Amino acid sequence: MLIRQFRPNDLQRVYELACASLSENYNPTLFIDLYVYWPEGFVVLEHEGRILGFVFGVLLSRTDARILMLAVDPQMRGRGLGTILYRDFRRECGLKSISHITLEVRVSNTVAIHFYEKLGFQITGRVPRYYSNGEDAFRMDLHT
Ligand SMILES: CC(C)(COP(=O)(O)OP(=O)(O)OC[C@H]1O[C@@H](n2cnc3c(N)ncnc32)[C@H](O)[C@@H]1OP(=O)(O)O)[C@@H](O)C(=O)NCCC(=O)NCCS
Repeated sequence: MLIRQFRPNDLQRVYELACASLSENYNPTLFIDLYVYWPEGFVVLEHEGRILGFVFGVLLSRTDARILMLAVDPQMRGRGLGTILYRDFRRECGLKSISHITLEVRVSNTVAIHFYEKLGFQITGRVPRYYSNGEDAFRMDLHT
């Protein structure tokens, strides 16, 4: 199992995982446009040449980061891979002295809410109609 920085060649597979996991229509150029600002915040987990998951975060300020997406291949969930990805992201945040990580999650996504709560995040707010289908988001925050 290899954990490494995203490379532009990974785009197709990452996009496929995002579409399969996140029920939102993303423009693939979003990844390429944003990751150049903080390449270390875009991490993939690879096994035998296949990407099994990724986490994609951006810097909001000198002390704040936002997780835009974190997804694990549906066949490979519940085996700790999401936690491995998050821990690597968190390590990158530590190297940048990031003290606050924020994210949004669908209010119906109880699996992800449990996942982030286990990692220390707390629900801090609700954003009405955050998603394109009109669903609300919970905002979740972690102060390190
Ligand atoms: C959320 C997600 C990334 C978790 O990845 P994962 O590799 O399955 O997670 P892990 O195996 O590391 O699980 C860590 C913890 O999360 C929680 N969790 C994971 N799957 C769960 C489930 N099906 N039900 C309840 N809690 C769950 C548990 O607390 C678990 O700890 P435990 O194994 O000690 O019980 C994965 O389910 C996923 O890709 N979901 C679709 C995309 C998504 O919703 N991303 C988040 C919004 S950006």
